[in-house]
Amino acid sequence: MTARQPPPRPESGANPPPLLSARNLERIYRLGQQTIHALRPLDLDIHKGDFIAIAGPSGSGKSTLLQLLGLVDSPTAGEVRVRNRPAQHLGREQRAALRLGTLGFVFQAFNLLQMLTARQNVEIALALAGFPRRKRRKRAEQLLADVGLAERMQHRPLQLSGGERQRVAIARALANEPDVILADEPTGNLDSQTGREIVQLLEDLNRAGQTIVMVTHNLEIARRAGRLFLMRDGHIDEVEPGNAAALD
Ligand SMILES: Nc1ncnc2c1ncn2[C@@H]1O[C@H](COP(=O)(O)OP(=O)(O)O)[C@@H](O)[C@H]1O
Ligand SMILES: [Mg+2]
Repeated sequence: MTARQPPPRPESGANPPPLLSARNLERIYRLGQQTIHALRPLDLDIHKGDFIAIAGPSGSGKSTLLQLLGLVDSPTAGEVRVRNRPAQHLGREQRAALRLGTLGFVFQAFNLLQMLTARQNVEIALALAGFPRRKRRKRAEQLLADVGLAERMQHRPLQLSGGERQRVAIARALANEPDVILADEPTGNLDSQTGREIVQLLEDLNRAGQTIVMVTHNLEIARRAGRLFLMRDGHIDEVEPGNAAALD
């Protein structure tokens, strides 16, 4: 026994709170005279171990929802809660700290730093997450090995294929051991075979316990998720992943 170990969590009894939840979450954009209801008031609970896909046509509010859940954007009304704690009243810096401690992001365009190697891209995330310098290299190498890039650590993004770049981005997203990974169209820039491999990687991470929320255009991918939500005009509905009819 060491003093550092957290107390054991009760395995049964009271349900643990959702890792991330939305309550009456609404987002209206105002552009000049125009009012855009990007998100109609919606509720959503994301629990540990979930693999959630959010599908829907372009402009239906998927990215808006992800940015709100990711504490990057602020809602017009309603709130996001992290383990039942409202995040809305927090100041900018507190919100950034909560984001850093809780969430990992994966983007369609990878968003890697072009001048840095794969390993350095991950090391930067480890530095931001507060890992001591002497531990960063080893952990970056481990994370890259975990996503299948043991042989590509010294490559810069331009020396990597699209699928490999997205693997680096996933390793980076894992750096802070996030409660939830939020992925916005992670296969959007990839050919279908490479896209399937990236989803396979996300599924493997999910099987190992990682909670994932993934926005996707791809219905074949969406149907494989544990929970599936469809968005339309800012509304969201949960449907059976196997229920193909709901998607056509
Ligand atoms: N920053 C913004 N300012 C104004 N309108 C926006 C902004 N971001 C998104 N929108 C609008 O909100 C709606 C939802 O957009 P978005 O969440 O990006 O949809 P999706 O990701 O499903 O394609 C769209 O009508 C879009 O044009
Ligand atoms: Mg989008």
